[in-house]
Amino acid sequence: MRAAVALLLVLAPVLASAATLKESYDGLFRIGVALNQRQFEERDQRALKIVAAEFNSISPENALKWESVHPRPAEYRFDAADRYVAFGEKQGMQVIGHALVWHNQTPSWVFQDERGAPLTRDALLARMREHIHTVVGRYKGRIAGWDVVNEALDEDGTLRKSPWQRIIGDDYIEQAFAFAREADPSAELYYNDYSIEREAKRAGAVRLMQRLLARGVKITAIGLQGHDHLRYPSGAQQEATIRAFASLGLQVNITELDIDPLPRIADEVTAEVTLSAAATDALNPYRSGLPDAKQRELAEKYGELFAIFAKYRGTIGRVTFWGVTDGDSWLNDWPVRGRTSYPLLFDRAGARKPAYDEVLAVAKRLEAKP
Ligand code: GLA
Repeated sequence: MRAAVALLLVLAPVLASAATLKESYDGLFRIGVALNQRQFEERDQRALKIVAAEFNSISPENALKWESVHPRPAEYRFDAADRYVAFGEKQGMQVIGHALVWHNQTPSWVFQDERGAPLTRDALLARMREHIHTVVGRYKGRIAGWDVVNEALDEDGTLRKSPWQRIIGDDYIEQAFAFAREADPSAELYYNDYSIEREAKRAGAVRLMQRLLARGVKITAIGLQGHDHLRYPSGAQQEATIRAFASLGLQVNITELDIDPLPRIADEVTAEVTLSAAATDALNPYRSGLPDAKQRELAEKYGELFAIFAKYRGTIGRVTFWGVTDGDSWLNDWPVRGRTSYPLLFDRAGARKPAYDEVLAVAKRLEAKP
């Protein structure tokens, strides 16, 4: 008995600090993560342990994008996506679908006829409907929510002149939502974009959401991608953004969170995937490790943002990280190839970083309050 008590005393601090992300945020919102193929195929054992312990929602980094599931007009390939969904079910996680209608990672044939000429509006709408019905229909009742339209806005808040918009017109967005709703009436449906925290783009997103809501479109949430860095968004920008959509009655999800501590190539805040710059030493300063001061700054930024997410827990459905460990992050190759970045909560060896402790501390402080 005495030995047992002594053991408990020794273990108490360890047990106390053993809470994981999903446990700490239980009752506030889900904690999600984007998985690559090696991870959902259980070939990355280090990541697997982290994913099972820490997260309760998953997103597919690439497995459900158009080019992955529908590479040619009459060809669907679902093997990887099927394994992704099966993995989530086996783990008892919320399974998210990403992304149905986007202008990137979408083959160019999608917008052309057999002779390479641009499709008509009707033909592109028919193709969009067929794709959405096939993909959403396959996972009906198994994928909880879909990014229906990804990145439809330009930085100034106007609609991006993507091939979808040019060929179909502005109503392509509501058409996509209507098709998704037909295909799975009970799935949550999302509009997802980056840099919404900036005023001009946010105002455009608010107008877009208002227009969709006024036209009776069933939209559950707006996804703020959250490809952030140490100076962006400010707490005020983050808060104003969440409030703007909450006041429209929408749920807000943070869908692709990472905080890049590397030098920016431009002042422009963007997550435009086609942006690139040549590699230089100055742009890749932390090859052999992130200095303590930067590590602290990163932890503080995570703490600041999570305190805001926690404050708006009634509005936020989930916070999803875009990758498991630093080594998995797309930010090692964007917008400069071959850099060493440190944007997530787990380091390259899978160990929890100071930023992890800070995120946990936010939830602890909340528990401590009556
Ligand atoms: C965008 C997309 C994601 C992903 C990231 C970068 O945010 O929505 O699917 O491609 O860019 O990895």
